Amino acid sequence: MRRIVVTSALPYANGSIHLGHLVEYIQTDIWARSQKMSGNECVYICADDSHGTPIMLKAKELGITPEELIEKTYDEHVKDFKDFQIEFDNFHTTHSDENKEISQKIYQSLRDKGNIVSKEIEQFYDNEAKMFLPDRFIKGECPKCGAKDQYGDSCEECGATYSPTDVKNPISTVSNTTPVTKKTEHVFFQLSSYESFLKEWMQNNEIQKEIKNKLSEWLEGGLVDWDITRDKPYFGFEIPDLKDKYFYVWLDAPIGYIASHKNYCDKNKQNYLDDWKESSNTELYHFIGKDIAYFHGLFWPAMLEGAGMRKPNGVYCHGFLTIDGEKMSKSRGTFFNARTYLNHLLPDYLRYYFSSRLTNKIEDIDLNFDDFMTRVNSDLVGKIINIGSRCAKFINKDFDSKLSSEVGNEELIKSVLSRKEEIIQNYEARNYAANMRIISSLSDEVNKYLDDEKPWVKIKDDSTKGHVQTICSDGINGFKFIIGYLKPVLPEIANKVENLLNCDSITWSNIDNQLKDHKINAFVPLITRINRESIEKMKEENNKESAAAEDTDKITIDDFIKLDLRVAKIINAKELEESRKLLELEVDLGDETRTIFAGIKKSYSPDELIGKLVVVIANLKPRKMKFGTSNGMVLATQHDGDIIIIQPEKDVSPGSKIS
Ligand code: 2FM
Ligand code: ZN
Repeated sequence: MRRIVVTSALPYANGSIHLGHLVEYIQTDIWARSQKMSGNECVYICADDSHGTPIMLKAKELGITPEELIEKTYDEHVKDFKDFQIEFDNFHTTHSDENKEISQKIYQSLRDKGNIVSKEIEQFYDNEAKMFLPDRFIKGECPKCGAKDQYGDSCEECGATYSPTDVKNPISTVSNTTPVTKKTEHVFFQLSSYESFLKEWMQNNEIQKEIKNKLSEWLEGGLVDWDITRDKPYFGFEIPDLKDKYFYVWLDAPIGYIASHKNYCDKNKQNYLDDWKESSNTELYHFIGKDIAYFHGLFWPAMLEGAGMRKPNGVYCHGFLTIDGEKMSKSRGTFFNARTYLNHLLPDYLRYYFSSRLTNKIEDIDLNFDDFMTRVNSDLVGKIINIGSRCAKFINKDFDSKLSSEVGNEELIKSVLSRKEEIIQNYEARNYAANMRIISSLSDEVNKYLDDEKPWVKIKDDSTKGHVQTICSDGINGFKFIIGYLKPVLPEIANKVENLLNCDSITWSNIDNQLKDHKINAFVPLITRINRESIEKMKEENNKESAAAEDTDKITIDDFIKLDLRVAKIINAKELEESRKLLELEVDLGDETRTIFAGIKKSYSPDELIGKLVVVIANLKPRKMKFGTSNGMVLATQHDGDIIIIQPEKDVSPGSKIS
């Protein structure tokens, strides 16, 4: 028995799971399920990747804390995965005690080894938002081709990559202001010390040829020190002994694999170090997208080596998902969230379709909706599942649900079973498309046998009726083997079939057991065909969602009209002793006077306010406060830490409407 830890890349906790993600989760899930069917102890580990600037900023935009955001996303992710039948043995978060402890430990080991160096660097800083800016939060003109509105690290027009300080007319996308450059002290991981180790590791472990070539190219180009620091404000773990400095999210993300596994081991009374110590015999495989090969092929094994821990035995890369031949794109309506899909279509369809396209190559895979519908309807439903319904109905109705004690067609049974080892090997080698082809051709064989034997004719004649039981029992056994072959791909359908056939849970070792003289249960429909309408409805929902998402930061004129903005005159102002921030204002609104508590004490004394014209929101719901009820809101802005009230440019009468 092998002990295996297998992982999928950790999804970021600021977005929903989408169909692109699912290629990898489905790929890994099938692999792990096949390993478990072999009786191997295979632990499938994942977690949310919960740190970094985008998460911090998204929480801010939503007016919640990053902790609240990642918790909400975690629940959503768990539900999406479950509904797609992705069966993690543990799904944790990188914002965990385990991860903090292990990240700090690994960092300390690297530092003790002398692999951590400190350097002063210059980075873009947003004076308005008071933060250093990651490359992705800078936009400007490409230094090479001049294209406008390009990110701080690369140009989508000409493909050039560059440093953000080379961008012309840079703008911070956080505050829409021009950033300044500012010096800051960062710590770096000296990757170059691991050059010879990495060359050797790469040759001796399972890395696809294309990735090996890419890694070699990077190695030949010379490894530069890796900046593992981010300045405050940042949502992540503080670096031990460094004030206001945090680990870059990509340092603690892969360590999240260990941390989630530790969390699993703690719950199951195991010691995670048995699997992560240098000398461990446990196999470790990471499934990832081709875009993050750099992190998993260089930084990650180097960090593990530096920390004296075991390294991965394999890193399995896959390509991207395209939809109807095009890159997934929100604006083109080809970016589908997992939940939008599930609102209209069954997860089994996608699991089957992806399997029919997945190989161990790094090529992109395409989800073509016409092909999707044809393959699922004709192969899965029309060919494979149909065997079960064709045969079970006769057995249920005419033979008291009992299978024959004889085999009618030994050749057929042998032929179906003869592909078992090849199928197990193909799963191990991630050659799922080859398996789907084998399964389809085996289904053709069984269907041909049924077509030739014509049980629906034989059942009508008393002299041949008895033979129908044997024919259909052969069919049922063939069906059992085929569904067993498909079990890693379609676990829920396989469970339904096990119930229908009243047999043990199918594994690779018991799959060849034939059911003879055996009672089955009543047939239940296993899966329906895809109808085109469901696909159209999914697309429709998606278009609506994208349109709504694009517009969330805009209001309509009707929204604006709802605001009753008026000029008011402050006729009295008082300090409130118990409040550090508030002043109590009495304002004249033309036909009425109101009391408003305004948080402007820091910048104004009551005396200087009396007689001033201000702008108020007059139709704000009254708010009960400790000191009384506030009836409106005074508009103000901030400058250099001071609060400044907004005033009309000329004298106008109190109560004048602003539009
Ligand atoms: O690229 C991504 O989506 C990252 N969140 C993957 C992290 S995988 C691992 F290293 F943690
Ligand atoms: Zn360019």
